[in-house]
Amino acid sequence: MKTAYVTGADRGLGEALARALLSEDYHVFAGQYLPDWPQLTALLNAHPDKLTVLPLDVTSDVSVATAAELVAAETDHLDLLINNAALFQDRSGSVMDDLYFDDMLTLYDTNCLGPLRVTHSVMPLLRAGHRKLLVNISSEAGSIGQCWRKKEYGYAMSKAALNMQSAILRNHLEEYGIQVMAIHPGYVRSYMLGHFNEDATVDADESARGILELIRLRTDSHAPLYLDYQGSALPW
Ligand SMILES: NC(=O)c1ccc[n+]([C@@H]2O[C@H](COP(=O)([O-])OP(=O)(O)OC[C@H]3O[C@@H](n4cnc5c(N)ncnc54)[C@H](OP(=O)(O)O)[C@@H]3O)[C@@H](O)[C@H]2O)c1
Repeated sequence: MKTAYVTGADRGLGEALARALLSEDYHVFAGQYLPDWPQLTALLNAHPDKLTVLPLDVTSDVSVATAAELVAAETDHLDLLINNAALFQDRSGSVMDDLYFDDMLTLYDTNCLGPLRVTHSVMPLLRAGHRKLLVNISSEAGSIGQCWRKKEYGYAMSKAALNMQSAILRNHLEEYGIQVMAIHPGYVRSYMLGHFNEDATVDADESARGILELIRLRTDSHAPLYLDYQGSALPW
């Protein structure tokens, strides 16, 4: 059976990815951060045999290790890991006003160290996978080459660092047959602002479909690493 692990699967893109993977006959391990949010429970009711919901806070070593144990209790391999969980709400401030370093550290811990913690926690399972694919959900905000922002230090720097992490992982994991991708999902209608963002331009389902299509087409480990959900390479 094909197996996938998706973090931050409560809502937004993560929930859409989990749902799309279930429809493609994956067994999905879904990281749950918001136990009271109903979407993942509804998905579990619809797919009780193919979905495993795991409590997961990617900033906690204990939570990440416990989730990995629960995955390993149910499968001996992972074909696909999608590090999707992240925080956006950026209260970093401005160099002309105040700067809030604690908020920046939280963003770095969640968006950059979180994926590395999770990847590390399931490395034996990923090595044993048939497909062996690691996807970090990045952002155009992590592109230094096309940076247009004058603020949002915490979010943008965390995603630039995630891109570097993805590049290092690709170098290292090639010898183990594991491919790595860093994907910008588009400007997605999700809950990144703390409420549903109607003003965004892409439905989470459309973005998830695009990402799964890229995953399906991925064969060349030397293909561009950092790309958007429609397959266009982004400048680092
Ligand atoms: N939406 C966009 O336009 C956009 C653009 C570029 C990149 N992205 C990336 O796309 C991915 C998915 O974001 P989204 O748009 O679907 O946002 P979302 O609706 O906020 O989903 C992200 C999920 O991750 C959860 N999460 C936050 N902190 C976590 C933690 N410490 N451990 C585990 N889960 C945690 C969130 O919970 P809370 O809701 O409680 O925070 C939420 O359920 C993120 O990596 C994001 O950076 C999004």
